[in-house]
Amino acid sequence: MPEAPFVAVADRDAIQDGKFIKVTIEGRSFILARVDDRFHAVEDNCSHEDYPLSYGCLDGDRIKCSLHGSRFSLETGAPMDEPADTPIRTYAVKVADGRVWIDPTQPSN
Ligand code: FES
Repeated sequence: MPEAPFVAVADRDAIQDGKFIKVTIEGRSFILARVDDRFHAVEDNCSHEDYPLSYGCLDGDRIKCSLHGSRFSLETGAPMDEPADTPIRTYAVKVADGRVWIDPTQPSN
């Protein structure tokens, strides 16, 4: 079992491949996505205009903002399209004991 600061946020089987769910840790929202059987966690906030990315959709290994269409890499958080020009935060994820765990304390960028 991962130690703190990792937090269990979902059962592994609760997320289908190619889908994401929104999870909340201490009032903060995150996107937890599963792509090609890998899990990714990013902040639920578009860097363009502080808009929830959970209103959007996945496009392969990218999350697409539904407001102006910018896509962000789930791996690095980098914006792939204008108008966004700033990365979103990504977070470490582990899978253990049939659950998915996020470290919400140390964004990678
Ligand atoms: S708010 Fe997301 S691209 Fe503009």
